[in-house]
Amino acid sequence: MNTIVAIFLFLLQVFFLLARRIRSSKRVPPGSLGFPVIGQSLGLLRAMKANTAEKWLDERVQKYGPISKLSLFGKPTVFIYGQAANKFLFTSDGSVLTSKQPQSLKMILGDRCLLEMNDEDHKRVRDALVLPLMKTLTFDIICSLLFGLERGARRDQVVRYFQQMIEGMWSIPINLPFTRFNRSIKASKDVQKMLKQLISEKRHEFDNNLASSHQDLITCLLSIRGENKQELMSENEIIHNVMLIMVAGYATSSVLITFMVRLLAKNPNIHAAVLKEQEEIAQSKSPGESLTWEDLGNMKYTWRVAMETMRMFPPIFGGFRQTVKDIEYGGYLIPKGWQIFLVTAKTHMNSSIFQEPEKFDPARFENTASLPPYNFVPFGGGARICPGYKFAKIETLVTIHYLVTHFTWKLCCTDDFFSRDPTPVPTQGLPIQIIPRKPL
Ligand code: HEM
Repeated sequence: MNTIVAIFLFLLQVFFLLARRIRSSKRVPPGSLGFPVIGQSLGLLRAMKANTAEKWLDERVQKYGPISKLSLFGKPTVFIYGQAANKFLFTSDGSVLTSKQPQSLKMILGDRCLLEMNDEDHKRVRDALVLPLMKTLTFDIICSLLFGLERGARRDQVVRYFQQMIEGMWSIPINLPFTRFNRSIKASKDVQKMLKQLISEKRHEFDNNLASSHQDLITCLLSIRGENKQELMSENEIIHNVMLIMVAGYATSSVLITFMVRLLAKNPNIHAAVLKEQEEIAQSKSPGESLTWEDLGNMKYTWRVAMETMRMFPPIFGGFRQTVKDIEYGGYLIPKGWQIFLVTAKTHMNSSIFQEPEKFDPARFENTASLPPYNFVPFGGGARICPGYKFAKIETLVTIHYLVTHFTWKLCCTDDFFSRDPTPVPTQGLPIQIIPRKPL
């Protein structure tokens, strides 16, 4: 009798397992995972380079609907977009989604940077970073402040390393001598070596009272100590997060300012309105007097131009997360450990949210409160909203202030092409002819 019960229970278990499998496989989103490792990565990267990523994604949506599976950068992935998707990704806690970046990005930036941390670890390091970041970063060059590196050959080399690191971040993680990924990994190793050396110099200076904790970001992070004076951030945490901040700060604000320069050259009326606002501020100052917080607060129109620029040309196209368990989304099952690829910027060009989305019109941001939430998200949202947002705003407003009040410029290259690599890069880096203006 016992044997019969045992067999019956065993068969029951097998039946439930099979039933779950069949039900699950039916409910995984439509689409194909493509070839192992490569999947659809090359297609997406090619489309991004050709600036046809939106079309590439639209074709997916037409073929499979708004939620589909594919394989990106070596992982099974589910592509989602839209207001609900933005909300889902930005508000889900660590019991549902974890922040895990594609292998390529993780291997280049390191596994102890904020992007790879979750829950308590994320909070600890983010809290430690944001305040010192905002305190120590001024609109002067990040490089000087983080590394104490002034202009010269060494700094130029660091910029080249960072450029190489960025190029391989969205790539198939195949580490062979001829791949982009390989070049980025090498650049990342060189930067890490340099940072290790720099940290040991700065630790020596701080421990011997030769430097104050506010001297630069690295010293500031080294100075965060526990009760027994032990350092609270590990060396790898400092290295990986300094690299993240360099990359996140270098590759994003520069894109925003570059596209603003392009748009101002192409839209004389908008340029005139920005100039009027900035000249009024400049005229209120005595010669050589610096800009103040109040002046930045008065640059309302210029910031609307910046927001409209980010709507149409978002520096960050989308982001990645990973499921912590099997989850249901939009009526489908997304299995545990799969990647979620959210194209946040897809709502920016949705005509039901932004009328005539192809038209550059800063007036849309006159009343931001009327915008439905989770549709305009250039800085992300939720617990991982960009901590560099205010810094980026200062950098952009100050740069545009000095540019428009001191110079006029003409585009030397009239074609509108740009590629995403992974951040947008205009043709030939946007050559312009720049002409000094008469001082006010
Ligand atoms: C126009 C400029 C910028 C834009 C559009 C931008 C955009 C973003 C976005 C969309 C995210 C969230 C990504 C996600 O949820 O997956 C993010 C995160 C982040 N950004 Fe920015 N960013 C900008 C400037 C900066 C600057 C200047 C810094 C630092 C100096 C910075 C540092 C960071 C860091 C450290 C994170 C990770 C935060 C975390 O995971 O908790 N960003 N940024």
